[in-house]
Amino acid sequence: MRLLLLSLAVVFSSSAMAQSGKALHDAACMECHASLGGGDPYELYQRDDRKVRSLQDLQSRLQFCMRAADVSWDSDQQKAVVDYLNSRFYRF
Ligand code: HEC
Repeated sequence: MRLLLLSLAVVFSSSAMAQSGKALHDAACMECHASLGGGDPYELYQRDDRKVRSLQDLQSRLQFCMRAADVSWDSDQQKAVVDYLNSRFYRF
């Protein structure tokens, strides 16, 4: 029973984290990307010649784009956004 509760807690907290990664991303990153992607903010992550080729690339791109978006996320928030982008688009 304890183990069950523990695994439920893990499942819930990881989905809460993906959720907050999406919330952070959607608040800070969509507008500029939409203007680059012809109105579609997700185009950049899905185009054939996308630039990000590894988890490492994704992390460095996030650092760069955080400055462009003028946000200063702590490492948990950065990880949540990387997890969100990776699970939804990149799948490294
Ligand atoms: C002021 C504009 C701007 C903002 C705000 C911005 N970006 Fe970007 N983003 C760019 C540009 C420019 C590129 C590169 C496009 C290219 O290479 O053609 C890019 C590319 C990316 C890529 C790589 C796409 C690929 O080719 O695989 C990722 C990932 C990314 N941004 C994440 C983010 C995240 C996360 C945020 C929010 C913190 C964000 N960006 C906010 C301008 C912005």
